[in-house]
Amino acid sequence: MTETKNTIAFTPERLAKAKEMIARYPEGKQKSAIMPVMHLAQEQFAWMSQDVMDYVASLLDITPIEVYEVATFYTMFHLEPVGKHVIEYCRTGPCVLMGGEEVYAHLTQKLGVKKGQTTSDGLFTLKEVECLAACGWGPCFQIREKYYMHLTNQKVDEIIAELSNQ
Ligand code: FES
Repeated sequence: MTETKNTIAFTPERLAKAKEMIARYPEGKQKSAIMPVMHLAQEQFAWMSQDVMDYVASLLDITPIEVYEVATFYTMFHLEPVGKHVIEYCRTGPCVLMGGEEVYAHLTQKLGVKKGQTTSDGLFTLKEVECLAACGWGPCFQIREKYYMHLTNQKVDEIIAELSNQ
């Protein structure tokens, strides 16, 4: 573990969890824990700022660029501040064929945002993603670990209303 200049730090519980994840791999192979440690970081800090990525790099004893590479490759890592609920909407072929574009248009209109934007109340961020591996249950989107499937305009209205009241 190397020292960092920034003030970002895991809570003691998360730091213990990160160390446990890193310890699963042999000496010199700490980088193998990069994905779970990044998920842990995003869980605490909401998005992967440069300071957060540098902190992850210091925990894994790797160079910051190695974390930036992973963060910019996978859409599940947020590179900008996000709202309370991040909607990751699948826009790949099978979901499109099942009416995904119509539902997507309804969702963007309802939220008043486009791809990558956050609603003015800070509740929802809309991201477009590739296949969520739920093709048989499309159209679909994901919010954190939860999948919302067989979406219709009405179902979207219900989901947004429910999440707005949480
Ligand atoms: Fe949407 Fe696979 S195409 S989940």
